[in-house]
Amino acid sequence: MNYTKMSKEELQQALGEQNKVLKEIKKQKISLDISRGKPCPQQMDITMPMLDMINSATQFPKPDYRNYGGLEGIPELRALFAKILGVEKEETVIGGNSSLQMMFDTVQRAMQFGVCGGKPWNAGKVKFLCPVPGYDRHFAICQHFGIEMINVPMTPAGPNMELVEMLAASDESVKGIWCVPKYQNPTGYTFSDETVERLAKMTTAAKDFRIFWDNAYCVHDLYEQGDKLANIMDIAKEAGTADRIYEFASTSKVTFAGAGVAVMAASKNNIADVLSHMKFQTIGFNKVWQYAHYLYLQSPENVAAIMAKQAALIRPKFEKFEEVFSEEFGENSGIARWTKPRGGYFISLDVLDGCAKEVGKLCKSVGLTVTNVGDTFPYGVDDKDSNIRIAPTFATEEEFEQALKVLVCCIKVACIEKLIKISEK
Ligand SMILES: Cc1ncc(COP(=O)(O)O)c(C=O)c1O
Repeated sequence: MNYTKMSKEELQQALGEQNKVLKEIKKQKISLDISRGKPCPQQMDITMPMLDMINSATQFPKPDYRNYGGLEGIPELRALFAKILGVEKEETVIGGNSSLQMMFDTVQRAMQFGVCGGKPWNAGKVKFLCPVPGYDRHFAICQHFGIEMINVPMTPAGPNMELVEMLAASDESVKGIWCVPKYQNPTGYTFSDETVERLAKMTTAAKDFRIFWDNAYCVHDLYEQGDKLANIMDIAKEAGTADRIYEFASTSKVTFAGAGVAVMAASKNNIADVLSHMKFQTIGFNKVWQYAHYLYLQSPENVAAIMAKQAALIRPKFEKFEEVFSEEFGENSGIARWTKPRGGYFISLDVLDGCAKEVGKLCKSVGLTVTNVGDTFPYGVDDKDSNIRIAPTFATEEEFEQALKVLVCCIKVACIEKLIKISEK
């Protein structure tokens, strides 16, 4: 059914029906939240054996991990992360529990001290390229530091590279780009080999340009055959641009979201630069917890096995979304389009232009919280007012299915009302 081709009378009838459904939903007094990408308790239950990996009898390797020191992290875990990310052990630094914190610190250092001996970024205007829709917390970091954000549309192959290349090559104040290259937040798209290569090889007006390669979902496949992401570090090394890449990842959605371990991977030049500042910040991060992580995670193969268990828990929710939305809207409703990720934590939903805020408001009015509409864009401004990020993981399957029913109804009400208004013009 294509709503945009319906007559005014047909629209009014459909609206009447949906308003009745909405009234029934209201009576149920639900309270559901599909706004943030949090693992569900059952996913974290899988990790509980990690707590048994260390105890009072544990013999910690020398130099004693219980003591100060080891700023770059314990060698065993660095080696494991290096294998997973396809870099050398010496090209990694382990941080605290949050990769977001490492990204924030990296921007902060660049702003205040410059990168690898360059001028502090904040000596002049600083701009970042922001693939949209994207991760709200990346945009929040930029906003916090007064970095001007330039939208670049995402495509199924990654950011629009003509635009990225043009902007990076023509403006010296463009210092960086945010990339979530695998199962991007929120589209779930994985950058194509060509995109990765163009990013590594493109001309940049700023000599100290950096790609913030947030590989948050590098091991988060929903299916046995996951998307394949080209190794940007290998390509950059060959192209002589290795210093351009700052890669980030964490175990937040592998072990515990509130108590994982984060890692930064970069050229040896960059790592030396990072450590030269980090040494003033701490004498070393939590090596006891790093060791527990190493003992639990062990190898890339074991990480894949753990992630397959998690996928079994969350895949049905992604598939439920696809089932419900295909049934309710199909390919040609004219009012809803969505992505079909094969991994990661999100689905990107686009409703009829000018309706997303209203959908969000309607959902809230009946007890369903969706991600703040607009948050997937810099400054919270989605010019088209169409994008809504869906986070299926946290709710139970039953709750998620109930949330989808509410969402479907709210989309129909908001969009049909809009189409009626358009038809009256
Ligand atoms: C793309 C992306 N990067 C980073 C994070 C946060 O990572 P961490 O928990 O390591 O700070 C998230 C969380 O949703 C994310 O979606």
